[in-house]
Amino acid sequence: MKKIVAGNWKMNQTFQQAIHLFSSLDQAIDSVKSTEILLFPPAVYLHHLQSLKNKKSLLTLGAQNCAAWNAGAYTGEISIPMLQSIGIEWTLIGHSERRTLFGEDLSLVAQKVKHCQQNQFKYILCIGETLQERETGEFETVWRNQLNSALKDLTEKTNLYVAYEPVWAIGTGKTASPKEIAQAHTWIKNYIQHDLGYPKEQVLVLYGGSCNEKNASEILSTPHVDGVLVGGASLKAESFISIIESSEQCT
Ligand code: PGA
Repeated sequence: MKKIVAGNWKMNQTFQQAIHLFSSLDQAIDSVKSTEILLFPPAVYLHHLQSLKNKKSLLTLGAQNCAAWNAGAYTGEISIPMLQSIGIEWTLIGHSERRTLFGEDLSLVAQKVKHCQQNQFKYILCIGETLQERETGEFETVWRNQLNSALKDLTEKTNLYVAYEPVWAIGTGKTASPKEIAQAHTWIKNYIQHDLGYPKEQVLVLYGGSCNEKNASEILSTPHVDGVLVGGASLKAESFISIIESSEQCT
C-alpha cells in the first residue's frame, strides 16, 4: 500500500516563496512509485498553485482548514464548496493548533468531519495528547474522546485518514520514539476498527511531530505508520524531497 507524505506549510511563505517552493517540488518529483504526496499551503495560494500544476504533477493540494457550513454569514471562513470550485479535494481537520489557539472544540471538529463526509471531501483528522496528558497517563482517554466524538455519528465508515500528532512533538524537535508511535498507532487502529466499526484496511494513520529528513526513514518503517504529516521540514524543498525518498525506500 502507498505511504502518504503530507506537508503542512501552516502560516508561512509569501506568495513568491510559495510559488518557488511548489515549483521546486513539482519539478524535482517526477516519479514516485509508492508514495502519495499531499501539500497543505495557506488557502490564499491554493488557486494559483493549482493552476501551476501540469497534468503529470504528482502533488495534490489541500486546505489546512475548512468551515463547518456551506455558505452564509461566516466572516473569514472558507467553505468546502469554495475549495471544490478551485479543484481542491482535501483538508486537514482538528490540527492541534486549531484546537488550542483557535478554540476548536470536540463538537466543532465533529461538525467539520460530518460536513466533509456530506460533501464527499477528503480529510485528515488530527488527534494527539499534550505533554501533561502524556505524563499523567491520560493519553488513551484523550485519543478515545477525540476519535469517538469526531467519528461516532458518521454513516459511511470508509477511507479514514487520521494523523497522530502528539502536541509535545509538534515544532519542538522532540519526536515520539518508534515504540511510542507504534503503540499509539496500534491503539488508534484497534479502537477505530473495534469500537467505531471501520474496516481495518480502510483506516490509515499518519504520524506528525518534528518529522524531518533525518528521522523520516525510521518513522516510516515503524509498524502501523501509513505516512507522515510534516510541518517545519516541509518548508524546505530538499528536506521534503528527502522525506519522500525515504518513503519510496520504505515501501
Ligand atoms: P512539525 O509540525 O513537523 O513542525 O512538528 C507538524 C504538524 O503540525 O503537522
